[in-house]
Parts: sequence; structure tokens; C-alpha cells
Amino acid sequence: LNQLLFKNPNEPPVVFHWFPVVGSTITYGMDPPRFFKENRAKHGDCFTFILLGKKTTVYVGTQGNEFILNGKIRDVCAEEIYTVLTTPVFGKDVVYDCPNSKLMEQKKFMKVALTTEAFRSYVPIISDEVTSYFKRTPDFKGQSGVVDICPKMAQITIFTASHALQGKEIRDKFDVTLADLYHDLDMGFSPINFMLHWAPLPWNNRRDHAQRTVSNIYMDTIKSRRARGETGAQDIMYHLMNSTYKDGVKVPDHEVAHMMIALLMAGQHSSSSTSAWIMLRLASRPDIMEQLYQEQVRNLGADLPPLAYEDLAKLPLNQAIVKETLRLHAPIHSIMRAVKQPMPVPGTKYVVPTNHVLLAAPGVSGTDAQYFPEPELWEPHRWERDSPLAPSIVRNEQVEETDEDKIDYGYGLVSKGAASPYLPFGAGRHRCIGEHFANVQLQTIVAETVRLFKFRNVDGSNDVIGTDYASLFSRPLEPANIHWERRN
Ligand code: HEM
Repeated sequence: LNQLLFKNPNEPPVVFHWFPVVGSTITYGMDPPRFFKENRAKHGDCFTFILLGKKTTVYVGTQGNEFILNGKIRDVCAEEIYTVLTTPVFGKDVVYDCPNSKLMEQKKFMKVALTTEAFRSYVPIISDEVTSYFKRTPDFKGQSGVVDICPKMAQITIFTASHALQGKEIRDKFDVTLADLYHDLDMGFSPINFMLHWAPLPWNNRRDHAQRTVSNIYMDTIKSRRARGETGAQDIMYHLMNSTYKDGVKVPDHEVAHMMIALLMAGQHSSSSTSAWIMLRLASRPDIMEQLYQEQVRNLGADLPPLAYEDLAKLPLNQAIVKETLRLHAPIHSIMRAVKQPMPVPGTKYVVPTNHVLLAAPGVSGTDAQYFPEPELWEPHRWERDSPLAPSIVRNEQVEETDEDKIDYGYGLVSKGAASPYLPFGAGRHRCIGEHFANVQLQTIVAETVRLFKFRNVDGSNDVIGTDYASLFSRPLEPANIHWERRN
């Protein structure tokens, strides 16, 4: 009754709930995509729910993505939401612990380091890490076996990313100290830290100790690299060490160190969850895994030469695997922004007030039958233009974007609009700068894995495991066991 009587006609409809503070926290938290879909069917694209006492306004669909992700800086703010979680983990003065204009410069430093030349050097590094991992890991000894794939992909992700982006010196430290330290840091990234950021949670001491220790490791490495007078390395650390802000200030070492942590943490969860999903999807479709192998034989040669960056473009199915998996399993299901001034929702009578938080969920348009026929079906071939399942964005011959269609928020040109229904890497000023790296990393991992193994589900079925939404980034429920068999 309360909810009916005090309904404000200028605010979006509120999802019904029994308890004031709890609101819809539980139903949202158990399965966010289902929550969005069910309430979209009831209330339309824009509705409000109570998340831990906070009025949270969801706006799904392409217009919602545009409204939130391309919101003006005077209207929406990311750092106000994320800083409580990220600053203790990344450290001071970077990402959300600084004005947005500084983040834009930091993103530019990181992005310009990710050149084609750099990617050329990364592919052999990633390939070596993958093959040597499978060679030395006891769970992959012998001709066949069963393995919980998630922890394995988490390790492969951190070894490949740290080696490519941060150099061999840092990579080697993951075999000794850094793995445990990152594990402690990671505990600061739990939803409970988000909800109870003011509380003295028992693991926060370990998180803070790990943050200081990891920062010091990076700063010592920076000093020794400087002392050696290293020039020309292709990793991001080298590039950041030699970057200067627009006001002439050189990026201080502690900021380089904190950006290193941020980069590894930003990429780690999304890429390792995505690679685990890919392996699980391949286990559920051994026919597609075989097609991937045959694609390499056909397009690269039967002797399967060492993989090079240029080869990735010759493997369209290998690329589509990553694309299709991110469509169904985008690890970031909710993107939040604080509202800085009342925001009228175009074409409606609604105004989103400043005491609301805005929530974008681009995964909803990515699984909308309006754009993707049979949206719940994992079918990498749908990304081929003549596939009957091809999404409208592929079928309607896309006009190449020109620079006129793009905008520079300070970190290079990105699409002006968020009109595409497929946005696993976000849009606007907070858009991912790691998209290309993630694609190179994931495609290389997949290509190397299909050279070595055949996967199937342990019970031989085509089923796929459910999703764990209990951490901030969604990932497969564990244990996620697959059966592997060596190719020859
Ligand atoms: C931002 C997704 C990998 C670095 C984002 C955002 C999304 C995203 C959706 C926007 C967040 C927002 O608007 O609040 C992904 C996915 C990945 C991935 C799905 C892998 C499959 C990476 C990697 C790196 C990275 C490998 C680093 C090399 C960043 C950075 C931002 C970002 C620096 C900017 C944050 C901001 O401006 O607020 N990513 N990402 N990401 N990502 Fe990624």
C-alpha cells in the first residue's frame, strides 16, 4: 500500500518488494539478467528497484545504454560509486581516486601502449605461457583426464597478462610471491566490501598489506629498470614510466605501480571468466572444437606453425568464439553511475532524481531476440553474414564508422553512440581500453588449446553449467569439470 500511495508519477515504476531496505537485493543478486528481463516485461525498459536501501534505476535496451553510458559528465559519475571498492585495492591517485580528466589521461597512456607492434610481440609470449602451462601442470599429465577448468584458466590468464603487459621480471614473481599477494588483494573485490565498505572486515588488513607490498614490488622494479637504462620494451609498464601528463608532470612511480595493479585486476576477472566459459562451451560442443582445429589446419597450414599476431585475423571462427561467448556471458552484468543532477528520460515523463543510482545492463540488449535470433543459443557461426542466426548488426551491412562518428574523451577516438545492442566492453568515457588486448589474449589461448586437446563434458552431454553471480564479476559455478583428451 505504501508503495502504491507514495508512488511519484514522475519517477520510474518501482519493483514491488516486501521489506524496505532489503528491497529486491536478493532477487537481483541471485540472477541479475533474469531480474532485468522479468521486470522489463512488467515495467518496460526503465524501472527502479531497491538495492540495499538505495533506489537503483535500471534502464535497459539500446536507448538505456546510450542514456547511461553516454551520460554527460555533469549528469553521471562513476568514481563516486566505485572508489570505495577500488581505491584500497589499486592504491591512491589512479582510476577512480582522481578527477575524471586525470583518468582519461591515464587511459590514454595505457591505450597508446597497446599498438599493433606491441601485440605482435605479445602473441608469442602468450603462446609460450599457454603451452608451457599445459606441459608443467600435473592435472594435464597423461593422455586424458578430468579437470575443474576455472582455476586453470585463472592461472593462464594471470601468467599471460602479466608477462605480456608487465614484462618478464614481474611475470617471474608470480611463481613466488605475487600470486598469493594478488589473491589477498582480490579479497577486497568482494560484493561484501562494496556493501560494507565502512566496516572493519577481517580480511581488509591482508588486503591493505598486499596493496602496499605489491606497490613496492612494482616501484622497485621500476627503479631497477630505470637504473639499467632500459629502452624500447613493449610492455605497458615501460610506456607508463615514460609518460607525462598534459600539465608537464611526469607520471610518478607510485601511480605507475597503482595503474599496473588496476590493469591486471581489471583484465583478470573478465578475461579469466570469459576463457573459462569458452572452454566450457567447447566441452559442450566438441564438434565446434574440432572445427576450430580444422580452421587452423586449413588457414595456417597442416604443420601448424608458431602462432603470429597476423594469423589471428585468418581464423574467423576462432574470433567468433570469443565474440559469441562474451554475448552470452559478459562478465560485467551491471554498470553503475551516481546521478549528479535530475535527469529527464527522453520520450517519457520520468525524471531520475539525484538520490537514485543508475544501472546499465548492456547484456540485456545482447540477448534480446529483437537483435539476436534464438538469443539464448550459443552459436559462434551466427557471426557469419549469411547465417540464418546472424544478428541484425551483422546482416545489415554495417557502414564503416568514420572519425566523424567518433569522439575523443581524452583517451583516443571511440564510437559516439552506444547504439549497438552488443556492448560487452561498455561505451562512452568509461569504455574498456583492454578490448583489443583481451581479444588477442583470448584468441591466442583458444588457438593454442585446440592444438593440444579435445574437450567434452564429463557425461558426454551438450549441457552447460550455471552462472555464479555471487562475486562482482559473473563466472561459471564451480566445480566446472571437463574431460580433456590429448590430440595425438
Ligand atoms: C572498462 C569489460 C578486459 C581495462 C571496462 C568496461 C567494461 C569492460 C564493460 C566499462 C565499465 C564501466 O563503464 O563502468 C571488459 C571485458 C574484458 C575486459 C568483458 C575481457 C573479456 C580488460 C583488460 C584490461 C581492461 C584486459 C586491461 C588491459 C579496462 C579499463 C577500463 C575498462 C582501464 C576503464 C574504466 C573506466 O574508464 O572507468 N571493461 N574488460 N579491461 N577496462 Fe575492461
